[in-house]
Amino acid sequence: MATLARDAAPAVDPFDVSRPELYRDDTWAEPFRRLRAEAPVHKVEHSEFGPYWSVSTYKPIVEVESLPDLYSSEIGGFTIAPFAPEGSEVRMPMFIGRDRPVHTGQRRTVAPAFTPSEMVRMTADIRRRTAEILDALPYGETFDWVDRVSIELTTQMLAILFDFPWADRRKLTEWSDWAGDIEIIKNDALREQRLAKIYEMGAYFQGLWNAKLNAEPTPDLISMMIHSDAMSHMDAHEFMGNLILLIVGGNDTTRNTMSGLVYALDQFPGQRAKLEADTGLIANTTSEIIRWQTPLAHMARTATGDTELAGQRIAAGDKVVMWYISANRDESVFGDNADDFQVDRANARRHLAFGHGIHRCVGARLAELQVSILLEEMAARRMRVNVVGEPARVAACFVHGYRALPVELSRY
Ligand code: HEM
Repeated sequence: MATLARDAAPAVDPFDVSRPELYRDDTWAEPFRRLRAEAPVHKVEHSEFGPYWSVSTYKPIVEVESLPDLYSSEIGGFTIAPFAPEGSEVRMPMFIGRDRPVHTGQRRTVAPAFTPSEMVRMTADIRRRTAEILDALPYGETFDWVDRVSIELTTQMLAILFDFPWADRRKLTEWSDWAGDIEIIKNDALREQRLAKIYEMGAYFQGLWNAKLNAEPTPDLISMMIHSDAMSHMDAHEFMGNLILLIVGGNDTTRNTMSGLVYALDQFPGQRAKLEADTGLIANTTSEIIRWQTPLAHMARTATGDTELAGQRIAAGDKVVMWYISANRDESVFGDNADDFQVDRANARRHLAFGHGIHRCVGARLAELQVSILLEEMAARRMRVNVVGEPARVAACFVHGYRALPVELSRY
């Protein structure tokens, strides 16, 4: 059995990869490298989130995701910290945190919004909005790519998906940040403020819901949810939970891919040169940036029975954290250069950043479409984005991304 050598009673467990500073300081790669090599399924006894199993390589993550009855998303929550802590006033059941059969029906309701034909329908609109945002950017001046491009593009997209009032669209970003930040969730001092934001969001969406309730169906997600069998019977908590899921799911993730894209191209100028010389690499670059960035570092499950995973004995009730961020750097799948961003990586599409199995990201195609269009429109303008300062990173082990990224534009 693989065990890790460490001091008798360390104040900080170096293999507790849930520590926020690892992500704030961008020092997560080394502890994961050791975990993959020495203990790919490793029990962390003490963490701020309680005990958990750390699964850090590709194969056992696929195994966990392939056995959704044995590894539940519902019992202990789908992240290392429950979104609505036990005993809390706010109950937010989301289908990402439900097991079969409820999950199946609720997922089926929103899936039609993300079919290939819907993507074709949305393409021209996304392209137009992307072009408008890029054309408004200044040359010869430092600005924040996160704010001006990543947030703006993802927020506009969500506003379209929900038919959300345009002028208020930045509220989606604000609510999403409060709802999905794991450091806020575990911080008791911020609990009241977080609840207030969630209630504000609830009241706002209730208004939108009421307005659409007796109206003709429209091709947006709220109307789809109202007019579907599986979702029309939901109570107010479930409705809200699923809306939050779609907002947080579509917001931080795509936003951080768009920021990671610019950062990676700057860090790997040889790869940028390849891409600038060949727009045929855009589709693969899209997969590669999602692999390299891995905007959600993990998802979690809870074992429903005693079992074994990669030689380790997992007991019923144990929390199992699947570190996509590490599996996407697994040398046995992505080779010795797994840490590098490579626009022509042959198997970039094998990444696990969208998860696997019944919960695999329902918005994956939309996310890829948005990122590809961004790359195409940058190429059409021969726009190069130069990073001119260190990014400010999110200090959390769930959303893996950037708070700010100072850049300046040039042309190639
Ligand atoms: C589920 C990642 C974009 C909506 C997930 C999961 C991951 C993920 C890791 C859980 C998979 C699992 O447990 O196996 C990402 C990444 C994105 C992205 C990396 C962008 C690069 C989006 C977008 C939307 C979205 C644009 C919608 C607007 C959802 C929903 C689920 C989900 C609704 C729950 C699916 C289920 O439980 O069946 N996503 N996501 N995501 N995502 Fe995404």
